[in-house]
Amino acid sequence: MSSRILCRLDEIPDPGSKGFEFGEGAGLRSIFVVRAGSEVHAYENSCPHTDGPLDWVPDQFLTLEKDMIQCATHGAVFRIEDGYCIAGPCTGDSLTPIPARIEGDSVAVDI
Ligand code: FES
Repeated sequence: MSSRILCRLDEIPDPGSKGFEFGEGAGLRSIFVVRAGSEVHAYENSCPHTDGPLDWVPDQFLTLEKDMIQCATHGAVFRIEDGYCIAGPCTGDSLTPIPARIEGDSVAVDI
């Protein structure tokens, strides 16, 4: 695991989300970051329901109200702060978290 700068903090709306991909082929890794005020949270872009991606539209991982994460495929709803699923077909499961933090004016993860 190594520290990686993903983007500038102001590249993610507040509140808002942004997806990132690393590698290619079988080594492709897809994650997303949610910004909420002075906090950032990162998760693998893999829904516990089917292991598929959560977003149909790039960088859109939140509900219309932007207060929860929502899977676009079957509508599962997850808390932003811990990725716990509170509604939908995988209620009680959780997204896989990735350590994330703000470093100066940038967003960094340990990945
Ligand atoms: S794939 Fe996410 S709710 Fe079904």
